[in-house]
Amino acid sequence: MKIVAGNWKMYKTIDEAQTYVRQIAALGAPQKAGVQAILFPNYVALGALSGSGLVPPWLSLGAQDVAGEAEGAFTGEVSPAMIVSAGARYALVGHSERRHIIGESDDLVRRKLVNCLRGSITPVLCVGETIEERRAGTMKSVIFRQLDAALADLTLTADQHLLVAYEPVWAIGTGENATPEQIEEAHNLIRQHLASCLGDSTGRAIPLLYGGSVKPFNFASIVSLPSVDGGLIGGASLKPDNFWELLQIAGGC
Ligand code: 13P
Repeated sequence: MKIVAGNWKMYKTIDEAQTYVRQIAALGAPQKAGVQAILFPNYVALGALSGSGLVPPWLSLGAQDVAGEAEGAFTGEVSPAMIVSAGARYALVGHSERRHIIGESDDLVRRKLVNCLRGSITPVLCVGETIEERRAGTMKSVIFRQLDAALADLTLTADQHLLVAYEPVWAIGTGENATPEQIEEAHNLIRQHLASCLGDSTGRAIPLLYGGSVKPFNFASIVSLPSVDGGLIGGASLKPDNFWELLQIAGGC
């Protein structure tokens, strides 16, 4: 099973989101059964889509962020229960733009992840190193620190799920992919570390997505790598025909 997830970031009004979903629904379900499609719209579009009746059954929805608390006086925050009430089952946690631009700490990322699991949402934990960290030879220690902070003392129950996305910060929105060797190296390290944090069988079962300048022309060579279970795609998910093409490519692997 390959997973193709589109992170719309801060794009699309309600009208634009509804037009997109109408268009992708008209293109039909991905041809091959083994592909799971997930879109991550902004909160406003997410709420509007869920009530629209436009979202086809083969397309799941997720939120781009989530609060670290269940409820209360946290102005501007959105809780897991609110996200579930909008028909979404996933949330991105620790996206690099939130870590590096908004300034989210490892500790906040952990609280968000735990809050998702308590609130029946599958978190997609994003990890990845900056170019300075890669050049300094600290890719492994940065990723392990992010995983350790997010997963410390965590035990997943049978009905709790987790996805991990490796998104090297230097590959996001730059047009520069990590090479297949770099992706395999990072994913294999993440896989081993997940097994040591969460136990062998749980660690082995967690899907690993790659993100960073994925486009229809380069996706086949990435998604067919043995360590890659799918992609987390920004820019190329913004047009329905591009996103649909990515689904077809993943289905062919
Ligand atoms: P791009 O695909 O635009 O590089 O963005 C990747 C990303 O950040 C997905 O979460």
